[in-house]
Amino acid sequence: MKTFRGAVNLSLALGFACVVTIGVLIAATEPPPPWAYGFTAPPDAQVSAPPAAAPVKDDGTQRRVPGSTLSFTLTQIRDNAGPADWYPGDHPPMPPIVAHGRKEAMVFACSLCHYPNGKGRPENAGVSGLPYTYFLQTMQDFKSGARKSADARKGNTNLMINFAKAMTDDEIKAAADYFGSMKWTPWIKVVETNTVPKTRIAGGMFLRLEGNEKEPLGKRIIETPENVEGTELLRDSHSGFIAYVPPGSVKKGEALVTTGGGGKTIACATCHGADLQGLGPVPGIAGRSPSYLVRQLYDMQQGYRHGVWTELMKPVVAKLTTDDMLSIVAYTASRPVGAEKKEITSARR
Ligand code: HEC
Ligand code: HEC
Repeated sequence: MKTFRGAVNLSLALGFACVVTIGVLIAATEPPPPWAYGFTAPPDAQVSAPPAAAPVKDDGTQRRVPGSTLSFTLTQIRDNAGPADWYPGDHPPMPPIVAHGRKEAMVFACSLCHYPNGKGRPENAGVSGLPYTYFLQTMQDFKSGARKSADARKGNTNLMINFAKAMTDDEIKAAADYFGSMKWTPWIKVVETNTVPKTRIAGGMFLRLEGNEKEPLGKRIIETPENVEGTELLRDSHSGFIAYVPPGSVKKGEALVTTGGGGKTIACATCHGADLQGLGPVPGIAGRSPSYLVRQLYDMQQGYRHGVWTELMKPVVAKLTTDDMLSIVAYTASRPVGAEKKEITSARR
């Protein structure tokens, strides 16, 4: 009897080891999906990032965006020590580190990349609505080297790491408190399609080319501004994004996210909340940038992101292929958030 149980245990253990090995093998043979990192080819293809186009020259014109009464020059809009705040009414007063950064320490204003309202862009991250303790932990992970990008060419992640290293605990707490005080609201429209507008990459972001030329989407997600000028030139924090995803990917993702896909992964709601909008210290993943999410899944799977809390995500990502990741985030990006979230009303108590 004892021997029998031992044999069962052993075969279970072997079976488990086998599954894990296969998972790791699949993972190890796949390079980082370049579309998620803002490149046309993976790092080992030895294709360097295209030279950044020269920034549009500031001719001193006062620029405007729809819905704001303010005007700024291009120099003011991209000032890394105090960029334009188009809508001072859509967020609480910014702490100095968010509005201005700290020049002596080479810390840029958080609002430059993440926007004053924390909505962020696909090449960085949406930071509003993040739980306070998660925010502190992930900043510590950037500081300690436990959070890096799988693609070393990704310059803005390297900048982010330097900012975290230079920030004081009080600055980190002020930023966590500020961004955490705002809810995450809809920002990305998901469209299933076979063909996409042709794009060029600028600073890790895909920008629609002028003209109506199209190209096959293939197995990619192309996340691009709704309004190229509004985002690229004017950094309009009310101008959102479209994520083009392959036909059928939302449904495939739904199966993985809601059931775990028969042992391929673990149902996300267990930890990220029934509506995937976060649960206690675990961050929300609904309606957030799919490219950002794929970078995190891949970075965690490959060990580039290995913070204290990342342990809980290890079994989630271990067996995923990059195609699975694509489907998962096509689904999560399409989930409702913010105002659409069903609040538990006091009537229920
Ligand atoms: C130069 C652009 C840039 C600036 C300025 C910047 N960040 Fe970031 N930040 C990034 C990028 C890029 C990432 C995403 C890294 C990735 O995808 O690998 C990021 C990610 C983050 C995250 C992780 C979000 C998550 O969901 O885990 C936090 C938190 C954050 N930044 C906080 C800040 C704070 C606080 C400041 C201001 C001191 C700041 N950032 C300034 C580029 C920037
Ligand atoms: C056992 C609990 C658990 C489960 C199940 C789980 N997660 Fe997570 N997830 C976490 C924790 C904890 C973190 C924070 C990790 C860290 O700080 O490194 C996290 C972080 C993430 C992040 C990074 C968020 C950010 O803002 O950077 C993504 C993306 C993510 N999870 C996706 C998923 C998906 C998709 C699923 C389901 C397929 C899933 N998770 C299932 C616990 C879980």
